[in-house]
Order: sequence, then structure tokens, then C-alpha cells
Amino acid sequence: IFLLQSLLFPLYSSCLHQTSSNDSSSPFPSDFLFGAASSAYQYEGAFLTDGKGLNNWDVFTHENPEKIMGENNGDVAVDQYHRFMEDIQSMTYLGLNSYRLSISWSRVLPIGRYGGINYLGIKHYNRLIDALISNGITPFVTLNHFDYPQELENRFKSWLSPEMQKEFGYLADLCFKHFGDRVKHWITINEPNQQIIISYLKGMFPPSRCSMPYGNCSQGNSETEPFIAAHNTILAHAKAVQIYRTKYQKEQRGIIGIVVQTSWFEPISDSIADKKAAERAQSFYSNWILDPVVYGKYPEEMSYKSDFLGINHYTSYFIQDCLVSACNSGDGAYKSEGFALKLDRKGNVPIGESTDVSWLHNDPEGFRKVLNYLNNRYPNIPIFITENGLGDLQKPETTVKELLNDTKRISYMSGHLDALKEAMRDGANVKGYFAWSLLDNFEWLYGYNLRFGLIHVDYKTLKRTPKQSASWYKNFIEQNVNTG
Ligand code: NOJ
Repeated sequence: IFLLQSLLFPLYSSCLHQTSSNDSSSPFPSDFLFGAASSAYQYEGAFLTDGKGLNNWDVFTHENPEKIMGENNGDVAVDQYHRFMEDIQSMTYLGLNSYRLSISWSRVLPIGRYGGINYLGIKHYNRLIDALISNGITPFVTLNHFDYPQELENRFKSWLSPEMQKEFGYLADLCFKHFGDRVKHWITINEPNQQIIISYLKGMFPPSRCSMPYGNCSQGNSETEPFIAAHNTILAHAKAVQIYRTKYQKEQRGIIGIVVQTSWFEPISDSIADKKAAERAQSFYSNWILDPVVYGKYPEEMSYKSDFLGINHYTSYFIQDCLVSACNSGDGAYKSEGFALKLDRKGNVPIGESTDVSWLHNDPEGFRKVLNYLNNRYPNIPIFITENGLGDLQKPETTVKELLNDTKRISYMSGHLDALKEAMRDGANVKGYFAWSLLDNFEWLYGYNLRFGLIHVDYKTLKRTPKQSASWYKNFIEQNVNTG
């Protein structure tokens, strides 16, 4: 077997080289960021280490273990808190020039503004940022990636209260002050659109609020709460941008933006009703956050706009109208918004290629369409692809060998990176691409059972092993990085 492998591998890897060969018209500028992304709760572990406070995900996973596949939580995760030097070596091996990480809010401010600053937390991020920079890796820092101090939930229901704007402004100020001399790329909030839909409409993420017909929990009011939470989130973003603009940006010379999740919404038929429904779907999915952030359609405070848009893009859907003709209720139906998400057109024609999970279909063409759509709606705005990738569902019979031989991930990434090149040639102003994710990690409700890493993690030993996609990405970067 070994002999066979060693005979086949060069063949295989020369195919990889071909798919990612550099053509002279490579659209990537010399300052393009080729990175991988992570987030604090999904990676750090170090549960209450060095003075960290409890956050909403700590409490949610401990109080409701049954809600997470395998009853897992992020107490240990991939222990990046202690192992970041090893992970930086992997980044160097991959040839990454940037790494996206997030700050654990309760690590630096254990109970928000109500307690003091945890300087051991600040020290940790200083060490991490310094180590990245001294290895030639640009830190791309998210201030908030789903986790916040539980205290803010207990005191005033977090995003449902305008108090959260002040809390977030305080966190942002603290981070600009301590890290802004070295961090030049700031993301305020990760995927507010997903966070709000999942936490306040479907009730699946903390604080588990929803009401029928979308979710099956009893606390909350899905008619109003998602909009209140969105409003507070948008104004919290604006507050952070305002603080950066007025106190720090002139001296620190960085940029600041927000990240939303995008999907491509393809009308399920050529009917005008379905085409209009697809437009509605875009608006209810990402434009309701992006329009105010880019055009400042909110009064006063919202004149503090993003310098760039970050998008986390994974999939496409077919969209069917539900206004002109009624559609069946069920998972995909957003009745009051007037559209339904579908994964197949009539005759079982799926959108893109299906993968291990229903919400992720491999449709590179949809990615190109989203980038063109954004570039039309927000002309020439700088865009970073802050996440893109494929997850492998760990089934009882899945072997490590299968996980390491991740050809599906390679085909997903290569399709999407080609689509990205096309979109850039079409005119999209894309500045960077971050694979989700560097390592396998804690995937929220899936626990450790949905693996997105370029690098495999053995959760018993925490040993890291590069998958084939890691060599593929390394090679892609080598072929495409434009050294100017
Ligand atoms: C987007 C989220 O930002 C990230 O936390 C998550 O792991 C990926 N999607 C994959 O689901």
C-alpha cells in the first residue's frame, strides 16, 4: 500500500499543481491576503484560565449539553490558548500571510464594564499578535464572534438592549488601545445576520429566544426581537467605528468593517414572482445589515460606515415565491417574508453539489454571482472573503484516513477560488480570502463532529495533522501570490 501511495502521490500532486497553475493574468494584487480563519470560542479552550469570565456559550453548553452533538463544549476546544506557537508554525508551512482570530470578550472583560479589565487576557492577545507579526502573518481581528460575557445576558438581555451598544463600544475602545498599534484590520461583529436569525428567530443558539412558527422554543417574540437585536447590533458596530475614526484611526492607520454571511439565492423558476422572491431573500438575509452599514440609512450615528465588507460565504439556495402563490410550510418557508428556501428544483436538480450537511452545497458559480451582486449594490467597496470552506461530518464509521484524504474540500476550494478570480476579473474589489478553517474546531451545535479544518485535530491528543487540502492550499498560494 505504501508503495502504491508513493507512486500515486506525485501523480496526484501534479494534478493539484495543474488545477492551481498560475496564469499570467492572475488577478490577485501583491497585497492580497491569503489566510485562514478561526474564532475564540471555537479554538481557544482555556475555559476559566487566567481570569477569564463565563460567557454565553460556556453557560449554554454547560446547562444544555443535550443541545450540542456529542454533548460537547468549548472548554478545551483545540487549546489554541496554549498551543498558538505550534499553530503559527502550521500557518508558516501553509504560506499564509494573514490569520483571522477573534477576541474572547469575557477573557479581557470578564463581566463587561461592571468589573475590571483582565490584564492576563490582554497579555495573551499581545503575545499572540506579536508572534503572528514576527512570523510575517497579518492579524485580522474580529472583536465579537458570537460570544459575550454572560453577565450582559443576565443584566439586560444582551443584544435586546441598547446597553449592549455601550458595552461593545467599551470593548472596542479597549482593543484599539491595547492592540491597535499592531492590528490594522478590524472586524467589529461576525455574522450578525446569522447570529440574530439563529438566536432570536430559531432559538437554536443562546439566548434561545424565538416563537412559532420559526423555532420551537417558548420564550421570545420572533415578530419583533430579531429586529431589535439587529438594530442594537448595527448601532454597536457604528459605535465601534465611531470610536476608531475619532480616537485611533488617524494615528493607527488601520481599516474597520463588518462581516455578514452571504448566500446566493437563485430563483427556482423564471417566473417574475420567483425572481422577486429571490430579491426579497437577499434583503432579508444580508442587505438588512449591509444597507445601513454601507449607506448609513439610519440617522446620525450610522454615518460611521464600514471601510470594507467581510463576507462568510458557503452556499446557494433556490428561492420560491410565497406571496403570489402559497408555499408549503416547513423548514425552508419564511412565510411572512414571502419566500421559501429550496435545495432542489423540480426533478431533484440540486443547487450545486450536495455535501455532508443540507445547508452547504458546493456552488462556485453562486459565489461569483454574490460577489457581482455586492459589487453592483455597493459599487467598488473593498471586500474580504472572511470565511469559505467545507465541513466533513464525522460518522461512527469515518476513518482518519478518509478525513485526511479530503478531495471534496480541495474541489470545493478550488472551485470557489476560481470563481473568486472570475469575479475579480468581472470587477469585484476583493482584497483577501480566508479559508474556514485552519484547524478542525468546535462547530457550535455540531460540537466536534463537523470538521472544517485544513488541518486535522485528534481530539483525544489534540495532535494536528495537515490534510491534503493543506498541501493544496499551500500550493495554490505559492502559485498565485503576486510578489509584485
Ligand atoms: C460561520 C461562522 O462564523 C463560524 O463560526 C462557523 O464555524 C462557520 N460559519 C461554519 O459553520
